Amino acid sequence: MTQALIELANLSFSWPGHPVLLDIPSFRLEPGETLFLKGPSGSGKTTLLGLLGGVQKANSGTIRLLGQELSELGSGARDRFRVDHTGYIFQQFNLLPFLSVRENVELPCHFSKLRASRAQQRHGSVDKAAQTLLAHLGLKDPNLLERRADSLSIGQQQRVAAARALIGQPELVIADEPTSALDADAREAFIQLLFAECRDAGASLLFVSHDQSLAPLFDRNLSLSELNRAATPAEV
Ligand SMILES: Nc1ncnc2c1ncn2[C@@H]1O[C@H](COP(=O)(O)OP(=O)(O)OP(=O)(O)O)[C@@H](O)[C@H]1O
Ligand SMILES: [Mg+2]
Repeated sequence: MTQALIELANLSFSWPGHPVLLDIPSFRLEPGETLFLKGPSGSGKTTLLGLLGGVQKANSGTIRLLGQELSELGSGARDRFRVDHTGYIFQQFNLLPFLSVRENVELPCHFSKLRASRAQQRHGSVDKAAQTLLAHLGLKDPNLLERRADSLSIGQQQRVAAARALIGQPELVIADEPTSALDADAREAFIQLLFAECRDAGASLLFVSHDQSLAPLFDRNLSLSELNRAATPAEV
């Protein structure tokens, strides 16, 4: 079997003072695979993404990303590993409002030499990489680059967040409900752009959404309840 991009075994996680939220015997994500993950609100999807990104630590079990066991890394090394290899589109976009669009997109390259050098190799410079990604995502206007992120519409901010996740070709792109603010047409267009960029970079895409209509576009569909043996709360 080839090396998985993500390989998780016997993972258990609870928030302090709360019962076990995630109890996952095994899970794999293959290189280049696109996976649609769904589950009721509060069932632990964002928490799982945080564990995969090394933001939260598991109580027990193993999480390997690119063959690296995350718990073997100290917190500084784990942060570096995450920014080198993972691009996140957060449920709330988390753009830095006071930075320009360009500065937001280029941010991962300030924290990761690897991503800066990949962006440079592919596009000539980090700046050019940011511009090209934004243009591919439908944000071509050069004036827009220097605008503060918080002066953009929600749909535009979403695409800036996607460009930031994709810059420097991380092997894993994690998207946590990135389309909830878009109408149906814009949603599918956004996903097709995300797919095209991930395909180009050879990245795997782990995409969380409640929107079942998007599921057929992905290589694989999964409910968190199929993975998780812990009791999940009812949908609210
Ligand atoms: N920082 C935290 N501290 C304590 N409990 C938390 C924390 N973050 C989330 N939780 C709890 O963990 C459970 C799962 O939350 P999570 O955000 O992972 O759900 P989700 O599946 O992403 O939901 P949604 O679809 O609404 O985004 C919830 O009961 C939530 O209250
Ligand atoms: Mg969530």
